Amino acid sequence: MRPLGLGHAKVILFGEHAAVHGEPALAAALGLTTRVVHVAHADQTRVVILPWDHLRVSPDDGTPLGQALAHILRVVSERLQPPPPVEITLDTDIPSGAGLGSSAAWAVAVAQQLCALADPHASSPHAPVILAAADASERVFHGNPSGVDHTTSAMGGILRFQKNRPLQPLDLPPIPLIVAQVEPGADTGRMVAGVQRLLHAHPAAVQPLLTSLGALTLAAQDLLSVPPPAAPDLPALGALMDIAHGVLAALGVSTPKLDAASHAARQAGAFGAKLTGAGGGGCMIALCSDEQAPRILHALQGIGARPALYTLAGVRRHDLAL
Ligand code: PMV
Repeated sequence: MRPLGLGHAKVILFGEHAAVHGEPALAAALGLTTRVVHVAHADQTRVVILPWDHLRVSPDDGTPLGQALAHILRVVSERLQPPPPVEITLDTDIPSGAGLGSSAAWAVAVAQQLCALADPHASSPHAPVILAAADASERVFHGNPSGVDHTTSAMGGILRFQKNRPLQPLDLPPIPLIVAQVEPGADTGRMVAGVQRLLHAHPAAVQPLLTSLGALTLAAQDLLSVPPPAAPDLPALGALMDIAHGVLAALGVSTPKLDAASHAARQAGAFGAKLTGAGGGGCMIALCSDEQAPRILHALQGIGARPALYTLAGVRRHDLAL
């Protein structure tokens, strides 16, 4: 049986926190993936995750991953037909618990594989079923997910999201990006509530910050929208990232370590750097050229960022050399 499930990690490039208040934001799929590497007949459907000490996940094992697998199986069975029981072996290079959408990528990879098994002669990959199955899986981990993680994970590329509007895939080129986990991530709900409190206490001062983050999203989209063969102006895009980091810091969602890591990346030659996602810890991103990347990674590792990875943001499956 052909292994073909693959889910991307994601980062928010611009617009985090402002998105909660109706501003546009950009999410990008990373070259870091979770992918199916082997599929074999089995007595019962289960998933084996190689880099997690060959962890075995079964729908009835009582773990959150097991429950998530049960939901994926249920949605695929209801919407298509029950797939034959298989053991799906996964490999991954996405760090978990870093705000990079590892659970969404897991769900997308498994759902794609099970859809292909349930309907082996399909002419297209059943995108709505894959998204519905991944959504059911994400509800086990995130309660009421926005859908950004699993949609970006499944579709790849760069997507624009804005409250009460459908997620919009953009036809934009991938950009080189360093993603570094600076410290453990904070609870997204707590960080969102902090910004909400600040907005409530000082609306005249805080609303313009949120509007500014939305404007940075639009400016970034403009900079990325250059027709090929022209390449996006990375130094200009980096400058927007620096501004976004400063505004997010003003909203109270940065930390001394995220500030230090962004500063270190810029000092080592990055075009720009910012925190990504909810903040309060977690990851930062830095934009750079191939030549600058090793020096920046070295600087980030030197201040304790682990992992610090150089990848592409905005990739689609066909961009990856698999
Ligand atoms: O850290 P993440 O990837 O869950 O991103 C959270 C993004 C926020 O804007 C802070 C919250 C949201 O729901 O948009």
